[in-house]
Formats: sequence, structure tokens, C-alpha cells
Amino acid sequence: MKKLITLLLLTTAFIGQAQNLISNVPNRNTTSLNGVWNYIIDPYQTGFYSFHLDQYDKQAKPSNGAFFNNYHAANKQELVEYDFDKSAQITIPGDWNSQVPELKYYEGNVWFKKSFDYDLKDKKRLFVYFGAINYKADVYLNGKKLGTHEGGFTPFNYEVTSIVKPKGNYLVVKVDNTRHKEDVPTVNTDWWNYGGITRDVTLIEENESFIEDYNIQLKKGNAALISGFVKINNFNPAQNQVTVSIPELKVNYKGKVGADGIVNFEIPAKKISYWSPENPKLYDVTIDFNGQKLRDNIGFRTIETQGDKILLNGKQIFLRGISIHEENAKGGRANSEEDALRLLNWAKELGCNYVRLAHYPHNENMVRTADKMGLMVWEEIPVYWTVEFTNKNTYQNAQDQLTAAITRDKNRASIIIWSMANETPVSDARNNFIKDLVAHTKTLDNTRLISAALLTHNVKGVGMIDDEIGKSLDIIAFNQYLGWYGGNLENAEKTFWDTPYNKPVIVSEFGGDAKAGFHGEKNERWTEEYQEYLYIQNLKMIEKIPHLSGLSPWILVDFRSPKRLLPGIQDGYNRKGLISNDGEKKKAFYIMQDWYAKKKKE
Ligand code: GCU
Repeated sequence: MKKLITLLLLTTAFIGQAQNLISNVPNRNTTSLNGVWNYIIDPYQTGFYSFHLDQYDKQAKPSNGAFFNNYHAANKQELVEYDFDKSAQITIPGDWNSQVPELKYYEGNVWFKKSFDYDLKDKKRLFVYFGAINYKADVYLNGKKLGTHEGGFTPFNYEVTSIVKPKGNYLVVKVDNTRHKEDVPTVNTDWWNYGGITRDVTLIEENESFIEDYNIQLKKGNAALISGFVKINNFNPAQNQVTVSIPELKVNYKGKVGADGIVNFEIPAKKISYWSPENPKLYDVTIDFNGQKLRDNIGFRTIETQGDKILLNGKQIFLRGISIHEENAKGGRANSEEDALRLLNWAKELGCNYVRLAHYPHNENMVRTADKMGLMVWEEIPVYWTVEFTNKNTYQNAQDQLTAAITRDKNRASIIIWSMANETPVSDARNNFIKDLVAHTKTLDNTRLISAALLTHNVKGVGMIDDEIGKSLDIIAFNQYLGWYGGNLENAEKTFWDTPYNKPVIVSEFGGDAKAGFHGEKNERWTEEYQEYLYIQNLKMIEKIPHLSGLSPWILVDFRSPKRLLPGIQDGYNRKGLISNDGEKKKAFYIMQDWYAKKKKE
């Protein structure tokens, strides 16, 4: 009984804040809440505030007007001005902009409701897990507030053990994708502000004590030592045995969990088949704890720099990459494995061994598919352009998103680079903001490389990459747009770059727009011929960049942007894709494909 009270206290104590993130959800005992949900468009937040703006969920007895009560009139007289069950329906996961025509440009509040039954057995615990909600979510179950989460591209979960009932549960989520200066990203982005529950919603059933998280990777600098930890939620000293087994490596480690609920380990392993693009070997790993078996597929590889070289498994590599936004074939947020295969197969067809997932952590299907396909990954948080670097809450938000991304993906061999930012303006505040993010990253994962996409400036006719924060980065990445935002393509071969850093350099973006099927002379902007010539000339210049270790042209596929408005050409799309949003390959695709084919043979 005592334990049950503790558990109840534990659960109740946590209601109202996102709890420690549960990792490896795809391999747990789950029930999906994906599918058809009801939704209510609520631009005045009528379901959240009274007419005098009292917040309903802060009231001792919230009014029937609070949408999270999913209330239905008790009789013919009672006044209730909403009804989820009679409201429109939408498919979750999925943004509302691409599913509901009148919501294409909508930025504001939409409520979602899903009813479900769940028979939770005694001594079991239940959590609700969201892959991502853009941008801010207020989450309720059976009228009780679970918490509020900010950040549109990282997962979070809440325990609902003490709230869920066998029949008639209603999960209500208020989503607000209004942009604010202090948010991450801030108000100005070159991508569509897709709102909604854009990734999977999953119920996770666990034992009273369970494996919450773990890290199983090669120890930094030691290719024969698997190191990491297993973290137990609600640790009970009477059950302290953990086993980590990797049969193919003859690993069968047994350890004891400490009072902090954690067991750290270092396991010697011989004859590892190291993960690489040519050999994307993933091992079956099983963690046993207290009757729970949690399986994962994990690759082992080393990634490091040596001077200006990037070494994968001790061998120098060149990153043949492409940048990718998270959009599906219907002009909405991608999420499924099918979406991931469509994008990553195109990257493979281009000749890539690497992808830059811009400008935010993509869904888990994307990184797990990259693991399987042998594509190295740059994963980035949306510290994009002019976030509020002097705002402490903005920093905490960025750090929380970084923590969630690393917690979710730290066992993915494909991820080799954590990126802190994109094209942020130089200032002391910004330098400190990013240096703090770098330091934080290293406390969570000291094995991967750290970078950021930097801007450059011109010094006596030479492109200079000497951003101060380069000192804190392992890889110097920069974006340049010769021939699109300035510069002269004819002189490309006489355009030179330099950097004071003896570190690997990646051109993280270059490119230009072309409307697929629009043809003309190579000097006519927006034609495929212009984009083709831009690639030809840029590649001649890029080949000469000192310490060049990779590139990720901007971008694989045309993508929606509210900033791209030229009628008949852009129509709300950024057209720098090598492939159109209708899947047509442009002439520049083949220029890049040829260049990578030659590079691969070097
Ligand atoms: C910038 C930015 C991208 C943007 C691109 C463009 O470098 O990083 O997010 O889409 O340039 O202007 O097309």
C-alpha cells in the first residue's frame, strides 16, 4: 500500500510538467492514439479563458466552457457552446495547414480531442508521449491538466497512471502555433509555420520500475569499449539487476543499479563490425530489467576530427551531402517511415553519404531510417537567424530542445554532428548563448562533433570564415550563395575563401531557385538552366576551399515558405530544391550527382 501511495504522490507531483523523456518508444509496449481526432478552431481562446480572461485551468472548479472538460449539456436548458464530438475531424499526426484548406495560413489556437478506453492493470503505469507538437501545447486528460510544452520539433511525455480509467477517457490538447520574438525559432523563418500535432501520439505502458533511458555507444576515443548507462524510473533497491546483451558481440553484461537509479558501464567488445555508409551494421541490443525486455538496433562507430580532417572509424571521409526540410509529398509536415524513405532514397540517388536535417530535429523515423540506410546525419536545433540571445527563457527553451533531441537520438550511429544554430548574427550575447549550448551538449554526449552554420564576410575580395564561435566548434560550416544573393557566377573560379581555423570545413548551404520545367538561357534567373550553371560554377569554386570536408547544397526538395511570393514561379515555395515539390528532378540534380560520383571515386 505504501508503495502505491508513493507512486500516486510521484504521479500527482509530476502533473503539470513534462517528465523525464522516455527513450526508444518504438520498441516499447505501446498503444497508438494516431488516427482521427476531433478539432475546434479557437482564434479567441474561448475554451481557455473566461470573458474576463480568467484562465479556466487555473480555476478551482473550471467552468463548463473550458474545452478541456469535453463537456456535453446535461439537459435541454443547459448552455454549452462547443461540442468536440460534433466538430470537424482531422488526421493525427499531421499539421492543420496542409489538411484543412481554410487553415493554410492559420496561426493561432486549435483544440484537439481523442477519446479512448484503457484497462490499466494493477502495478502498471501509463504515459502519454507526443513525438512533437508545433508550437505550444496545453495537454489535459479527463479534464486534468498534464502540462504545457513549448518547442515544435522535440518529444515530451506525461504520466497518466492516476488519471486514466477503463472507459471513456478524453485526451484534449490545445495547440498554439502563434510566433513570438522570444520563441525558438523566433518570428522570422524561411519555412512554413505548420501548426498541430505533427508527430505520433502514443500511450506507453510500463512496470512500476522500468527502463526510462539508456546510452549504449562506443566510448570516446576507444573503438573496442562500449560504454554508457541504463537509467531506471522509480528505482526500487530490491530490483537492481540490469543486463545488457549484444549476442553477435558475445556481450552479456550484468550490472547493479545504484541508489540514483543509474548503472554506468564499460563493456570491452572485440570484432565489432563498425557502422558506416558502406556497412550500416546495426546490432540487436537487449536490455533486461525486472522482467522488462527492451530491444533496440544500435550501430557502433567512431567519429572524430584530426586537424582539418573528419575521421569515421579512423578513416578520413568526405561528406557528400544535401540539406533537407521535413516535408511530405502533400506539402505538409513529414512524419512517417514512408516519408523518410522517399526523401532519403532521393539523397542516396544523388550520391549522398550524409544529410543535413534542417533546421530542427526531424521525426524519429527519419533518423532511424538513416541508421538503416547508412546516411550520416547533421541534426540541428532551430536557433535560427535572430532568436533573442539576451533572453534567459529563450536560452532555456533552446537548451531544453537540445536535451530532448540528444536524449531521443543519442543511440543513433547515423548522427555524427549536433548543430547549435543557423546563420545567427554575431554578437557577444549570441557567442555566449551558443558557447553555453556547446558546453551543455558535451555534458550529454561527448562523442559527436559539434557545429553550426555560420555566415561569412568579405575581406579584400576573399570570403572569410572567421566567426568567433568557430573556436568552440569541431567543424566550421558556412552558408554562401554565390550567384543567387550576389556575386558573379562568371568569376566563380576566381572567388576564394579562407579561414583562420585549422578545422574541417563544410559548405552547409549553397544553391539557387529554379521553377521545374521553366527553361531559358543560363543567365535567366528562375530557369533550370540558371540553377544548373550556378551549380557548375559554385562547384568549381568550392573545390578550392581550404580544409573542405563536405557540403550539403540547399536543398533536396522545393519547400513551402511564406517569404517566397513571386507569382507563377514561387507561389509560396522556396524553389532551391534539386527536385520540385512534385518530384521532378531539375537539371542541377544531375550536375550534383555527377560531382558526387567523381568525388566518391577519389
Ligand atoms: C538561408 C537559410 C535557409 C534559407 C536559404 C534561402 O541560408 O539558412 O533556411 O531557406 O538561405 O534563402 O533559400
